[in-house]
Amino acid sequence: MITKDVEMVAEDLRNGNVDVIPTETVYGLAANALDESAVAKIYEIKQRPRFNPIIVHVRSAEDFRRYAAEVPVKALMLAAEFSPGPITFVMKKKDVIPDIVTAGHGSVGLRIPDHPVLIELLDACGFPLAAPSANMFGRISPTSADEAEKELGGKVSFILDGGKCGIGIESTVISFIEDEPVILRSGAVTREMAEMVIGKVNEARGGKMLSPGMLESHYAPGKPLLIAETRPSEEILAELNAEFMDLGRFGSLTGIAVNLFSELRRCDESDSEVIICVPVKNEGIGLAINDRLSRASSGYLGTEKGLPVIKKTKEMKHA
Ligand code: TXA
Ligand code: MG
Repeated sequence: MITKDVEMVAEDLRNGNVDVIPTETVYGLAANALDESAVAKIYEIKQRPRFNPIIVHVRSAEDFRRYAAEVPVKALMLAAEFSPGPITFVMKKKDVIPDIVTAGHGSVGLRIPDHPVLIELLDACGFPLAAPSANMFGRISPTSADEAEKELGGKVSFILDGGKCGIGIESTVISFIEDEPVILRSGAVTREMAEMVIGKVNEARGGKMLSPGMLESHYAPGKPLLIAETRPSEEILAELNAEFMDLGRFGSLTGIAVNLFSELRRCDESDSEVIICVPVKNEGIGLAINDRLSRASSGYLGTEKGLPVIKKTKEMKHA
């Protein structure tokens, strides 16, 4: 049930249940982060593998010291600049955070969200909220209460309506576990923005699974999404029974980010068999948009002698 009643949702969460909450990035599937059995329900509902740790939403940087065993000064500097906001800090965890939240890792991802309804909810609860994005594992993250209902309706009691998400893609995840900070997932806070504040920040390299959110296939629609260098001709679209997902019409990169997941969802529900899009400019939040497109995609569409040629994502030229 979609509701705007913050106190009712807080009460449900106090009782160890799981509900959908709004954030400024995407909707989340929340439970009391300090209650092991409540958090276990998140994994069940999402069908999320147990190796994938969950972000904990807190109220302020003071909470970092409550839940993180070590709080590096660089994390505090970034928080002073970008929190509340779309940035998650991975730090060594304290024992109060149950192992189920962090999937047995010794670190916890903490985020101070910037959404008035969620802030009210956190204040009403008085405990931190563990919340991954409110989608079934591997699927598209919801950015409105209606989308969350389509994704998880019937599986939770309440979907707390906070309107359409202002950012539209998930937070930047940055780890302070290694000697130098590492970006594990790109988001609205870009590497350049972070480097202006704390100097060198590394980009995670593939291989070692630093962050399970970096799984190659993710954010995926139910039908194939192909990435092309340019908009294919109407003949090719007709031949493939494909719909062109025109992101350019949303104008700026921030406008594209806000609408990206709902647009993917809309194309997924249309009559076409295939979705085709072209990557956006690889700068600023465009990097995070291209990252999500590439993980959502199942191949690359090229042309040879005017005929469509589909290649595996691995061979894709962009990003
Ligand atoms: O914007 C967001 O971050 C949204 C909203 C709801 O806050 N949440 C979200 O959660 O995207 P989720 O679970 O879908 O993605 C969390 C990412 C995953 O890639 C996870 O692996 C990584 O953060 N993560 C969380 N805790 C971690 C940890 N202790 N170490 C490494 N990676 C971690
Ligand atoms: Mg997610």
